[in-house]
Amino acid sequence: MIRLHLPTLAAACALAALPFSAGADELDPTGEWSAYGGGQAPLPPMGWNSWNAFYHDIDEEKVLASAQIILDSGLADAGYRYVNIDDGWWLKRDTDTGRMVIRTATFPSAATDSDRTSFRPLTDRLHAMGLKAGIYSDIGRNSCGQTFGHGNANNPAGTAAEREVGLYDHIDQDIALYFGEWGFDYIKVDGCGIRGMGADNPNVQKGIYREVTPLIDFDSIAKTDVPAVKDLFAQVGQALVKHNPDGDFLYSLCIWGSANVRSWGKEYGNISRTSEDIAPYWGRMLHNLDSASRRALYAQPGNWNDPDMLFVGTGDFDTDHPAEARSHFSLWAMLNAPLIIGYDLRKATPEQLAILGNRELIALNQDPAGNQAVLAYDTEDVQFFVKTLADGTKAVALFNRTATQMPVTLTADHLKYAADGQIALTDLWSGEASSFTGEQEFTLAPHETRVFRAAGTRALPGGMYLSEMPGRINVAEEGIDFPEPDPMIHRAIVPWQNTRSNGERPRYTGWGGARADSSPYGQMLRVADREFLTGIGVLANSRLEVRGDGFRRFSAMVGRDDSGPDDGSRVRFEVYGDGKLLGASEWMGLAEPAKPLSVDTGGAAIVELVVRGDGKTARPVPVTWGDAALLP
Ligand code: GLA
Repeated sequence: MIRLHLPTLAAACALAALPFSAGADELDPTGEWSAYGGGQAPLPPMGWNSWNAFYHDIDEEKVLASAQIILDSGLADAGYRYVNIDDGWWLKRDTDTGRMVIRTATFPSAATDSDRTSFRPLTDRLHAMGLKAGIYSDIGRNSCGQTFGHGNANNPAGTAAEREVGLYDHIDQDIALYFGEWGFDYIKVDGCGIRGMGADNPNVQKGIYREVTPLIDFDSIAKTDVPAVKDLFAQVGQALVKHNPDGDFLYSLCIWGSANVRSWGKEYGNISRTSEDIAPYWGRMLHNLDSASRRALYAQPGNWNDPDMLFVGTGDFDTDHPAEARSHFSLWAMLNAPLIIGYDLRKATPEQLAILGNRELIALNQDPAGNQAVLAYDTEDVQFFVKTLADGTKAVALFNRTATQMPVTLTADHLKYAADGQIALTDLWSGEASSFTGEQEFTLAPHETRVFRAAGTRALPGGMYLSEMPGRINVAEEGIDFPEPDPMIHRAIVPWQNTRSNGERPRYTGWGGARADSSPYGQMLRVADREFLTGIGVLANSRLEVRGDGFRRFSAMVGRDDSGPDDGSRVRFEVYGDGKLLGASEWMGLAEPAKPLSVDTGGAAIVELVVRGDGKTARPVPVTWGDAALLP
């Protein structure tokens, strides 16, 4: 991780001018895989959550009815397991004991004795149905409903102290209760209590809630206390390990892409939200999609990008909009997003259940290789996502973002298949089979996504390009000097605010991160005029960990990318196998032709790709691992 010694709010001004960069020690190889391996997320989680269906208006009957339909409709057999309660379940904290009290008016089975409440009867019922149970909390003292004033009816009651239902100051006690005593399997930890409870919150001003100096400033990374945010989430992770001796838990981070969470969330949790909330509008779905779609190298088994829960069934994804509903579902499946249904399943039609239960699409999401789809074609109008599956075949999604019909051409290059070999396609929505050689035209209906399984002759026989297997890569150091918002994300109207502002700004730090088949800033990979369709684009001062088992060689064409500054600085590429230097390039400057870097890895479990800068630049320097591949 970059050591972001970001200042607390008080010291922010004094430290604002300090440079941020990875020191030499942070680039030294470790021979280890440093992404989080705890919890239960070898595959993206699948299940149901109350929020998009009911918001705060939840009760036990609704939760159990959804669980029953998940069983009866075959969705459980298709893989949906978690039944998650979101905001709205809590009544208060007992200030004598610190124990959380459940709102028994809506969860009557929790009234287990006169003094205490327990979710154990509910989790027992869910477990007896073969399902798993999830709960919700906040890392601060207060929840999102309290912070932003929504859902007053089911917000906690009592004194300001009794209303402090979040984990803050109670991490160990609450996690022990939720997992050890109540038997939950999953927790979503929100971040509103450390974001919006400052002195300007009207309810803080009225004395209803205690003031908490915000640790997250959504619009300023410099004024966000990243180490403090990390530390709180790490404490929850430690408590989860402690109170789940069997390791059967799933830890969902929900700070919406803030606090540079992309670079560190994978060290502490299993899934991490990449954006603010989805809403049942097309533009908002695009926004959430974009927040995860260029982050393929930041997801691997155990750690997944979470662009938020599904809204299939509602608004622009309702029964009148089957193309939109199928697109939303297809894209989430291709991105290895958690498939968490957010619909009142009592209202679901057979057609809607068929979308959510499409086994072929689910198989893509649950493919054991864990490769998030990579963008093979990227515009504001049309995008092609390609996902390499465990058996070496591909899935491709052709996505029309626009409201007009779009003629498109899929080529063998998009799939990294040989142009002269036949490519067999199976349409995963219609089941129709076809084949082509070289290229194939399609017409996409408005908002349509066609998804195919594709089998052809690999352009790289035997080996695998690194950009085909993002699930085997962990970006341990990304070389970003100062985290910046991502300008590529569709700026949708925020429904809960509407147009009461002068517009939406780029958000979510992550711009300049490592990319598959693209430079870090979205340019074509290019070294001294030579273009690379395939490769890894990253900044200098970076270290990538690659799972190298099953292969014996690494090869790439390396050099400074043409998209960087003409600053006279030079970079050096190094390849390590299980911590030992296997090969390195010379120091290379801008416009020097790409050089081959090919080493025998000897089957090393962890291959590390390090690029060092010479420190003579004031700006981040993009570099290219062109055609980077692991070979037999
Ligand atoms: C935040 C989260 C949502 C939901 C609500 C509950 O907005 O991002 O997913 O959990 O809080 O209040």
